[in-house]
Amino acid sequence: MGNIDKFDLIADKYDTDERREISDIITKKVASEVELAGKVLLDFGCGTGLVSLPLADRLKKLELYDASEKMSAVVSEKIKNSNLSNARVVKLDSVEKADLIILVQVLLHEKEVEPLLKELYHLLNPAGQLVIVDFDLLETNKENLLVHPGFNQEKLSDSLKKLNFERIKSENFYKGKKNFMNTDAEMFIMIADKKSF
Ligand SMILES: C[S@@+](CC[C@H](N)C(=O)[O-])C[C@H]1O[C@@H](n2cnc3c(N)ncnc32)[C@H](O)[C@@H]1O
Repeated sequence: MGNIDKFDLIADKYDTDERREISDIITKKVASEVELAGKVLLDFGCGTGLVSLPLADRLKKLELYDASEKMSAVVSEKIKNSNLSNARVVKLDSVEKADLIILVQVLLHEKEVEPLLKELYHLLNPAGQLVIVDFDLLETNKENLLVHPGFNQEKLSDSLKKLNFERIKSENFYKGKKNFMNTDAEMFIMIADKKSF
């Protein structure tokens, strides 16, 4: 998994109407759930920045990171053509600690979930918040070696607790038509706080 090579191939045509539409729903949901003002937000696995770029105006700083160089190049171009002065594309070794990290439809591509969550824990400031948006576990026995078939939120929450996250909450907020593995799938948002000390 990771599928970075695949995202490199589709980066230039990633922004379809359908993706813009769902990203807009996610952006609004994130904005309604967490305080943005004065915060440094890291969009980890940002893709083309569809979810976080519209939030930049409300943040102190927006950092965008993606393992796909082609996706990162698309975001850099968008930032260059905008008048956003507080957004920048970063490499993993130059990521600053953030108050908020969003991980939108990234985890499903990650073979080992816990190491990534642990890495994100260390990238958060004390009392920082991790926001995960992903697919709820599909009741399917379809084998897919490329992505996880969604996530059991209770198990994911347990993984976060093991890493010392607290006040973990989650809910489904969107159901699409044949939007994941050719099946109607629900999307959840999970928010977890890093301890303040
Ligand atoms: C489905 S796209 C979602 C993009 C964006 N978050 C959005 O919602 O529009 C998944 C993105 O995660 C990136 N990605 C996957 N695994 C990653 C990892 N371990 N580190 C950084 N980026 C990763 C991919 O390159 C791809 O751009």
